[in-house]
Amino acid sequence: MKKLMAANWKMYKLQGEAATTAADLAARLAGKLPADREVLLIPPYTALCGVAGVIAQAAGFALGAQNFYPSKQGAFTGEIAPEMLTDAGCRYALAGHSERRHILGEDDAMVGRKVAFGLTSGLSMILCVGEKVEERQAGELEAVLERQLTAGLAEVPDDVAPEALAVAYEPVWAIGTGLTAGPEEVAGAHAAVRGFLVRRFGVVGEKIRILYGGSVKPGNAGQILGIDNVDGVLVGGASLDAESFAAIVTA
Ligand code: PGA
Repeated sequence: MKKLMAANWKMYKLQGEAATTAADLAARLAGKLPADREVLLIPPYTALCGVAGVIAQAAGFALGAQNFYPSKQGAFTGEIAPEMLTDAGCRYALAGHSERRHILGEDDAMVGRKVAFGLTSGLSMILCVGEKVEERQAGELEAVLERQLTAGLAEVPDDVAPEALAVAYEPVWAIGTGLTAGPEEVAGAHAAVRGFLVRRFGVVGEKIRILYGGSVKPGNAGQILGIDNVDGVLVGGASLDAESFAAIVTA
């Protein structure tokens, strides 16, 4: 399966800026996107339709959403439904990003509902997991991953299509801080995630992509992508600029 190179634009970019960055990126990567890579742009909701139009003809590009509410429709003021996202052109969505867990108060059970509901709604889901610095220092890395993966994947069918599910390992202490996990830390955490996936899904678990996220930059992307069980990256800050993200995609 192709490596998934995901740009999480978080709460940045007005519609025009998002469209301009997407167009710049598509132009930079036209004819240069490595055959084993897929680009995923995850802009804020208001920019989804505009970016969808820009990348419609860009080979190897897909659109994703940062979040949704796990219901088909209803009286959920301020929320957005998966069907609205697929209607806007999304193929992917994130669930359980650390900012949603730790700033917006989303718990493991809600993350699990989102993963399962997104899958049944036709979205490919990226479940984000990762430990806080105090959890790592207390030796709880594997326990935290086990807990987040168990709950996040609780309702996922055993025969899930491997391309419909990915896990993003993002140590909370490395997100937006400039601190990157070292190669051994990345390899260890990704091996733990792989072990869980194989126990949970058997051979399918060997194919499910595991992305790394947390201060990925043009200068460290190549090394990170070369680590065992790293099947892509989820990039925040360094994905906002087309030149920078194009360099990561081709690293
Ligand atoms: P960062 O964010 O690349 O800015 O550390 C990664 C993420 O939050 O997905």
